[in-house]
Amino acid sequence: KDEPRWIQDEARFNDLLGTAGVPVEILFSQGDSAKEKANVESLITKGIKVLILTPQDGAAAAAAAQAARDAGVKVIAYDRLILGTDAVDYYVTFDSVAVGQAQGQYLVDKAEGTGNPLYLYAGAASDNNAFLFFEGAWNVLQPKIADGTFVIKNSSEAVALQDKATLTRDEMANIIGQVTTNWDFNTAKSLAEANLTVATAEDKGDVFIQAPNDGTARSIADVFAADPDVTSYVVTGQDAEKASIQYIIDGKQSMTVLKDVRTLAADAIAAAQAFLGGSTPEQTTTYNNGAFDVPAKPSEVITVDQSNLKAAIIDSGYWPAEDFTGLDALP
Ligand code: BGC
Repeated sequence: KDEPRWIQDEARFNDLLGTAGVPVEILFSQGDSAKEKANVESLITKGIKVLILTPQDGAAAAAAAQAARDAGVKVIAYDRLILGTDAVDYYVTFDSVAVGQAQGQYLVDKAEGTGNPLYLYAGAASDNNAFLFFEGAWNVLQPKIADGTFVIKNSSEAVALQDKATLTRDEMANIIGQVTTNWDFNTAKSLAEANLTVATAEDKGDVFIQAPNDGTARSIADVFAADPDVTSYVVTGQDAEKASIQYIIDGKQSMTVLKDVRTLAADAIAAAQAFLGGSTPEQTTTYNNGAFDVPAKPSEVITVDQSNLKAAIIDSGYWPAEDFTGLDALP
């Protein structure tokens, strides 16, 4: 999809490819698995040696991966795992469980006392990452739900499971089914509106919102900000999208998780070059995709809020200062 996250990946790839010395073609599939399969087939026909794929739907993409494997093409899953097939040679990724943990930990660190209203939101169930993010968040939030710090306000499935420290994939799927944004800004907005419509004034006040990424966080934050019964809110995000960096500067989004796409693109290119040279890329762990343990090397993520935004985003060269207003007022 043409979300800022993926437009950014394209730009970061193009920045690096000038020095990589290999011909490359980048195609988008507009959130459509059939289009994605057709794109992969057209690339195979053109004689590619390596396929780097971010699947729209992890399970549906197995067929495209298998077609590539059958044609002797190396398959690298990029950011999102391809599920249910052994036709995956490598997975370049961030530590997605750590992303969810960073989000959950942020809420925990900001909460005082007990009975704090907690609203949970998740990504698309077709994206394996939605499960990893949720798992990471649950790891840190669940003990604080069990001890009464937080009270879940928008998922009966999560309430029913709130005493379980570790959830099965099916249990997570039940919760995600109630709180999914489908990675879509409008779905996120409608869901938040629906949640606040049924919530009472006591379910509001000073609220805590586990939002899965920046785009959905901005939609959800706008809805909570407009509710007169919401006194304050803490809301998470991820991707360090420019619009969310501005929201953080302006105090409208609390945090984001920086996943440095420069690192991911460089790792993907290095992995492709290793395969082209007949070797295998560096592996530090594996991720099970339902068929086998896929070799991977996840990279680290950084929590960003007003306190470290200048250092993490501007001084690191991630985004230029002139793209934002109000930076001078930050620490
Ligand atoms: C990515 C996130 C992104 C989300 C929606 C996830 O798979 O890891 O960075 O925000 O998809 O596109």
